[in-house]
Amino acid sequence: MKNSLKYFGRIVKILKLGKLYPKINIVSGPSHHPEVLINGKKYLTFCSNNYLGLAGNKEMAEAVIDGVRKYGVGSGSTRMLSGTLDVQVELEKKIAEFMEVADSITFSSGFLANAGVIRMLVDPFPYKMPLPFGNQAGVILSDEINHASIIDSVRLSRAEREIYKHNDMKDLERLLAEHKKKRKLIITDGVFSMDGDFADLKTIVKLAGEYDALVYVDDSHGTGVLGPHGEGLCHHLGVNKDVDVIMGSFTKAWGSIGGFVTTTTSDLSEYLRVTARSYIFSDPILPCVVAGLIKSLELIKNGDSLREKTKENASYLRSELKRMGFEVLGADFMPIVPPLLHSEKNAIVFSDKLLAAGILAPAVRRPAVAEGQERLRLTTLATHTRKQIDYLLENMEKIGKDLKII
Ligand SMILES: Cc1ncc(COP(=O)(O)O)c(C=O)c1O
Repeated sequence: MKNSLKYFGRIVKILKLGKLYPKINIVSGPSHHPEVLINGKKYLTFCSNNYLGLAGNKEMAEAVIDGVRKYGVGSGSTRMLSGTLDVQVELEKKIAEFMEVADSITFSSGFLANAGVIRMLVDPFPYKMPLPFGNQAGVILSDEINHASIIDSVRLSRAEREIYKHNDMKDLERLLAEHKKKRKLIITDGVFSMDGDFADLKTIVKLAGEYDALVYVDDSHGTGVLGPHGEGLCHHLGVNKDVDVIMGSFTKAWGSIGGFVTTTTSDLSEYLRVTARSYIFSDPILPCVVAGLIKSLELIKNGDSLREKTKENASYLRSELKRMGFEVLGADFMPIVPPLLHSEKNAIVFSDKLLAAGILAPAVRRPAVAEGQERLRLTTLATHTRKQIDYLLENMEKIGKDLKII
């Protein structure tokens, strides 16, 4: 075998020897429910992002089945090449209305929404023309714990990059002042995916106004869960009119697949539709899935009781874990509940012990979080019962004491 191929085998072998290679369970049957089957045995899950339980919703499933009958199971080509379907336009119009913005654009994943849009907000335009700030690439200012898809999307850009300390507004202002004369883009997770805390959006939009910077908020975990009708964190904090681009994923509260961005002006969406490469060169969300997403949006708008239940479950789990002595991050009622364990070994052993007790709760470690920040990432759903959460808590306490973490 070529040495260049042996390289990978060596890495996998070393990870497996050190018991660091992640185990991926094969789940049979639906995986959206709090109880799943692995090798014929039932497990309780606390690792799904299906916050409102919509991935198992029958009305959405019916809408997708009707969509399959009408549109088939493939989209054939990209929207630029073969024309855009009525159902894609309908979803985008409905999202724009819901989010109170000029327009929205959908992508076949949230990752691809970030990959396509972020760079085009700061890269130079290929044709020479008189433009404010000239034809130069701008600068991206990104929170240090932003999601991996943002980090990679920023790397695709030709802009300069600056990383500011997590939610540190003084550090952000220092960088804004340093780059005063350039086009600037501030990028942040809305709800941080691993920590469950909120970006300081009120200060960010204020600074963006003062320094003439664009603001891009990846609200994948806030969409559907926060805001008066599930619009997300920007509405929850009352800053939605001042955020230039809100991005969301349909893989969390929306219970499906795909991603979207909103734009406050139609100029910006028209520009992105002809420049974002993951929109131009990649097929859109399957039309049958889009039909399901239109139903999902309706359920989210009318989803007050689901939102209440998710938040109630999250508050209960978080406050009980803290009472036991765990160090838990995140906003009180956010369904991302991460008890810190501070070592890769502790995180893996803890997760294995929970698995032995019939509970799925993944260990989170590099590259998802920095060294020393290892944790479990527990998530609560609207569909968890109090009894199921109590069973998790009972085991968290027992294992936490055994491992001398609490
Ligand atoms: C903050 C954040 N942004 C983007 C994504 C990517 O979303 P998708 O699963 O739709 O590709 C995720 C998914 O984990 C996320 O947590």
